[in-house]
Amino acid sequence: MKGLVLAGGAGTRLRPITYTSAKQLVPVANKPILFYGLEQLREAGVTDIGIIVGDTHAEIEQAVGDGAEFGLQVTYLRQDQPLGLAHAVLIAADFLGDSDFVMFLGDNLIEGGIGHMVEAFRTDAPAAQLLLKQVTDPERFGVAELGPDGRILRLVEKPKDPPSDLALVGVYLFTSAIIDAARRIEPSWRGELEITDAIQRLIEDGAPVRASHVEGWWLDTGKKDELLEANRIVLGTVERRIDGKVDARSELVGNVVIEAGAEVRGSTLRGPCVIGEDARIVDSFVGPFTSIGPDCLVERSELEFSVLLRGCHVRDISRLEGSLLGREVSVSPTDRRPYAYRLMLGDHSQVEIPGGP
Ligand code: TTP
Repeated sequence: MKGLVLAGGAGTRLRPITYTSAKQLVPVANKPILFYGLEQLREAGVTDIGIIVGDTHAEIEQAVGDGAEFGLQVTYLRQDQPLGLAHAVLIAADFLGDSDFVMFLGDNLIEGGIGHMVEAFRTDAPAAQLLLKQVTDPERFGVAELGPDGRILRLVEKPKDPPSDLALVGVYLFTSAIIDAARRIEPSWRGELEITDAIQRLIEDGAPVRASHVEGWWLDTGKKDELLEANRIVLGTVERRIDGKVDARSELVGNVVIEAGAEVRGSTLRGPCVIGEDARIVDSFVGPFTSIGPDCLVERSELEFSVLLRGCHVRDISRLEGSLLGREVSVSPTDRRPYAYRLMLGDHSQVEIPGGP
């Protein structure tokens, strides 16, 4: 069985971060989202992997290399435009040949891996096995209608009147029949070749399409709030580890990870939180569910429930929360008049300041 990981796409919902960086490499608990999926493929014994890449191909290729570090053999497959998940399957047709494959969306995180799903696919040998999760807002997702025997009868993309509360999670198992089905569909109203339409074709052909269920969490990290939530949940699974330096004036509470080369002085850290390599936390408070990237400097500040990418500088700020800072972002009070907000923000940035009623 082969793996097809989708790491192209536009990432419009995570702008401005995605103007300069691939969405799949945004870190969750200081590890790129994509790496979790690659590790889960490896754990399921799927090691021959094609990665679909788009405009951000150089960055993805640099981060993943030939895959050896993950125990994988990686082939990069270039998609010039993000024309849909089924389009990505067609781009990969030569790589896939007549092999069965797992398709994994590179910005999705699921708890517990995909081993059980791969097992079920090997035992039942359907044409497709889809991963489903019960959600409270099915109208936002691709939704599956199941028959009494667990077969999938119908798929609907973002239905106004959902036939069930079972959303399609970003992991799919296919035989090569999906390639032929993808060749027989037309672009949807949003101009994309939808994987749901290709799977619907399989169902109409009478091919068995089955479901597996995610019992634990499933996180789609396409937007800021979802990313912070993913960070919160994944940090909830980390164990305390102190490889950096902590002075006697500092207090660490709960599951705190301090990477090698990092330094904590005169600060209180309340876990779960991670402090990246060579970062410095000085006279500050870092609260729960916070990931501080490598080379960051946080001084005389308080922050929690936030993600800081590499090289940020936060000085004399009280208090930052629910924030996502891109690489080398600087946040500090002004020491020159006028004492006003002075901003330099990329396109599509969002700033929320205290105020209101
Ligand atoms: P989406 O999150 O559905 O799409 P997107 O990345 O274009 O994001 P946005 O809606 O914010 O603009 O894509 C899911 C995953 O699949 C993601 O990792 C990107 C990848 N992808 C491709 O590789 N090729 C494609 O043609 C599409 C649509 C997505």
